[in-house]
Amino acid sequence: MKVGFIQTLPVFGDILANVDKAVARLSSLDAELVVLPELFSTGYQFRSKEEAMSLAEDAKVGYAAASLIEVAKKKKMFIAAGINEKVKRKVFNSSILVGPKGFIGVYRKAHLFWNEKKIFSPGDTPFEVYDIGKAKVGMMICFDWVFPEAARTLALKGAEVILHPSNLVLPYCPQAMITRSLENRIFSITANRVGTEERIKGKELKFIGTSQVTAFNGEVLCRAGRRKPEAGVVEIDPKKARTKDITPLNNLFKDRRKDLFLL
Ligand code: ACM
Repeated sequence: MKVGFIQTLPVFGDILANVDKAVARLSSLDAELVVLPELFSTGYQFRSKEEAMSLAEDAKVGYAAASLIEVAKKKKMFIAAGINEKVKRKVFNSSILVGPKGFIGVYRKAHLFWNEKKIFSPGDTPFEVYDIGKAKVGMMICFDWVFPEAARTLALKGAEVILHPSNLVLPYCPQAMITRSLENRIFSITANRVGTEERIKGKELKFIGTSQVTAFNGEVLCRAGRRKPEAGVVEIDPKKARTKDITPLNNLFKDRRKDLFLL
C-alpha cells in the first residue's frame, strides 16, 4: 500500500488557497492513503474563539471536505486531514477521513495543546478504527502523541496505521512516534506543517516540519525536512502490524500486566 504525507505551508485564514493547493498536490501524488496536517485549511493561531468560528466549516460539506472528497473519488485515494470544524456553537480541532466513496469519519482532538484550550471544545468522539480495505486506520491529532493511551487505544481496537495530522512546535514528537509505533507494533503517518505564525504579538510559533512515516518496528521509512513544503510516499504492508508477537514467548497485548497498571 502506498502511503504518505503532504507537509504544507498554509496562509492563515485563506481556506480556498490552502485547500486548492493541497488538492493540486494530491492530484499529482501516486498514493493510496495520504495525511495532511492539523488545521491544514485555515492555519493554526486563532486570536479568539470568535475568529475560529468565523473560519470554521462543516466536516462533511465544507469547502475543505467537499474538495478532498472530490479528489479522493477522482484518485481513488483515502485522505485524512485536519480541519477547523464547526458544530452548532462549538469549534473542534478535528481530522476528517474521506475516501473514494466519500466521507468516512471525523475525529475531534481529545488533548488540546496550550491556547487551543481557549479556542476549541475538547473532542467528544472516540478513538475509532476504520477498515479501508487494505488497512485498518485510526486518527489522532498532534499533541495526542503525548498521551500513549491514544495510540494504544487505537492499536487495541485493531488499527494498523495511525493517521496523525499535526502542527508540531515542540521538538519531541518525531522521535516519540518511533516509540508509539514500536510499543504498539503499528505504522504511523505524522503530517506536519512548516513556517511560522505570529498572529498574537510576542507569541510566535515555529512549526518544525519533520513529517514522517514510521513502521511497526520503529523504523523511520520517510522523513521530511524542517523548512519546506514537501510530500513523502512509501510502500508499506499494513498486515505486518497485525501480529503482536515480539518473541515466541512475548505478545505485546497479552503480556500486559493490567493487574499492576493504573488506568
Ligand atoms: C499541537 O498539538 N498542535 C502541538
